[in-house]
Amino acid sequence: MNKKCFIFDLDGVIVDTAKYHFLAWKNLANNIGIDFSQAQNEQLKGVSREQSLTKILAWGGKTLSATNFQDLMRKKNEAYLNYIATMGRSELLPDVERTIDFLIETNQYVTLGSASKNARPILEKTNLLEAFDAIVDGNDITEAKPNPEVFLKAAKLTNTQPNHCIVFEDSVAGIQAANAAGMISIGIGNESVLNEAVHNFTSFTEISNSFLEELIKN
Ligand code: BG6
Ligand code: MG
Repeated sequence: MNKKCFIFDLDGVIVDTAKYHFLAWKNLANNIGIDFSQAQNEQLKGVSREQSLTKILAWGGKTLSATNFQDLMRKKNEAYLNYIATMGRSELLPDVERTIDFLIETNQYVTLGSASKNARPILEKTNLLEAFDAIVDGNDITEAKPNPEVFLKAAKLTNTQPNHCIVFEDSVAGIQAANAAGMISIGIGNESVLNEAVHNFTSFTEISNSFLEELIKN
């Protein structure tokens, strides 16, 4: 029986939190006089907190002292934590649970590959922690997506070769990281944005169990 490693990104793939990252960054940018568009936000999806702030400051042509930089990162996270304080299972994206359940039933590895340092509390709040064979998050990596480190670590933890790994991602940086790792990338979201992915779906509702079976077999 084939055993593949399915790697899920968290924000924007499992839970509908990408909107909260966006709101928190937009508010912070606007407060320091920097405009922040949806298109710019696409470039921050999957990107670490530190690199996101570095990019926003560069777009606004601003430089900050190390202390102020740390202070803004803390403020952004506080705002984000406020948004997710009361989150629960209703924030799970459609059919992600059906997909995870099917993969567990078919004895596949189910793992997490997220840039977020808030991943574990979110999995706890949504009651999903137990579903994962391995979790790699922002606390475990030194290189941010599009570097493949996060996904290669998930592969290693499950003793799976990269070409037997399948990555679900909603970000350009994440698709590039999966491709760089030599894995099968599946874009969840806007196909024209995620055009580097091997397969594209707007949501898990479009991913049938027979498609998953094909991925397992091949
Ligand atoms: C990614 C998000 O999953 O995690 C990014 O797509 C976010 O928007 C990054 O910046 C880091 O998350 P956190 O929760 O550690 O600030
Ligand atoms: Mg994401």
